[in-house]
Amino acid sequence: MKDEGKNIFSVFDEIIPRAEKEVLLKQKARVVWMTGLSGSGKTTIAKYLEKELHQQGFLTQLLDGDNIRSGINNNLGFSEEDRTENIRRIAEVSKLFLNCGVITINCFVSPTKAIRQEARSIIGEDDFIEVLVDTPLAICEARDVKGLYKKARKGEIKDFTGISAPFEAPEQAIKIQTENHTVAESAQILLDQLIPKIKKSAEA
Ligand code: ADX
Repeated sequence: MKDEGKNIFSVFDEIIPRAEKEVLLKQKARVVWMTGLSGSGKTTIAKYLEKELHQQGFLTQLLDGDNIRSGINNNLGFSEEDRTENIRRIAEVSKLFLNCGVITINCFVSPTKAIRQEARSIIGEDDFIEVLVDTPLAICEARDVKGLYKKARKGEIKDFTGISAPFEAPEQAIKIQTENHTVAESAQILLDQLIPKIKKSAEA
């Protein structure tokens, strides 16, 4: 929905700009957007990554499907429409963190190209770092950490990503193959790509 005619007066142009907050925090804000099947390892890798970044002095925020869906998005399910709204709200929340100078690490199935494209366009191309946690369905299903694949196979959960709902892998994202890497190695691959983007040089 647009603001016109709704008696909304945005003050975004009057508040302290992101650039000044980034100077304060001595970092450049970005959104790391991790996509992948349920149980692929998104949150596990993100937690490790967040700890590493924190130790190196970066201010971060981790957002994850299970947490967001028990709070701000607790009225949404898993239809295509609800997933789109889920991701739209998360992207808007991420943008608030971005404008606060914070590095946000998002762990959401975000299963379709269209959904991730919406997130990218809300957040902005330059600030959106897409990561595919590329764990094959068979491995996610064998791990079945939350027991959801078993339920989905029995038809007890409908629209389950990878079983009865689609997952479209991105083509351009940073790819993490969890079969070949430990959690620490996976986080290191991301750190190596991320540090040059978030580190503030003395003059920048
Ligand atoms: S998304 O598709 O809208 O991006 P999100 O990342 O928020 O999904 O939530 C995914 C988590 O919800 C999964 O890790 C799993 O624990 C749980 N879940 C429950 N039902 C489903 C379902 N039908 N499809 C996928 N995940 C589900």
